Amino acid sequence: MFISFEGTEGVGKTTLIQKLYEHFQQQGKAVVLTREPGGTPLAEQIRSLLLSVNHDEQMSHDTELLLMYAARAQHLERVILPALAEGKIVLCDRFTDSSFAYQCAGRGLSRAKLQLLNQNFVSKMPDITFWLDAPIELGMTRARARGDLDRFEQEKVVFFESVRSGFAEIHARDPERMKRLDATQAQEKVFADALSSFK
Ligand code: TYD
Repeated sequence: MFISFEGTEGVGKTTLIQKLYEHFQQQGKAVVLTREPGGTPLAEQIRSLLLSVNHDEQMSHDTELLLMYAARAQHLERVILPALAEGKIVLCDRFTDSSFAYQCAGRGLSRAKLQLLNQNFVSKMPDITFWLDAPIELGMTRARARGDLDRFEQEKVVFFESVRSGFAEIHARDPERMKRLDATQAQEKVFADALSSFK
């Protein structure tokens, strides 16, 4: 089973993923915890390029999209597909929905560009995706409290509002795969809601 986790900054993805990871482990299941962009040494290097702030040269939106997919191609081939083939549960912090929400809804790139990449380079979509949804201000306060802001975190509220509506659009299109979790609730409740999706 392939499970991904989505949402804007500071909505508690990490906590939920950790809880589910421990839950599956306690059930004696083989489970892999990974993230995007990243998840392999090479893909983590691409992640560093994507998140670092370079005041000398602004990254173009197309470059950003393509680097996301370069990292994803490596991650899929090296980590996700082999783990699934071995019957493991894969928990992935972000996947293609983030590309739609951030690069299309957020940056304004066309959905056609993304579809081209998905059709050619993404052979496996998550079986289930948890979208942790919360008002932008709430998450940004949490993200700011964590310290230095990366290239995405430095974006303004309007950008994240667009990203959030991108996730809402995917949810409206594909409610079977993408489950919305109310991330303003206590972490235990968010976890309980996620677990109820498996019943
Ligand atoms: P992540 O470390 O998961 O962010 P956070 O912990 O703040 O939720 O992801 C890094 C950033 O990369 C995040 O701001 C979202 C962005 N991103 C995209 O823009 N497109 C993508 O396809 C992915 C996977 C991530």
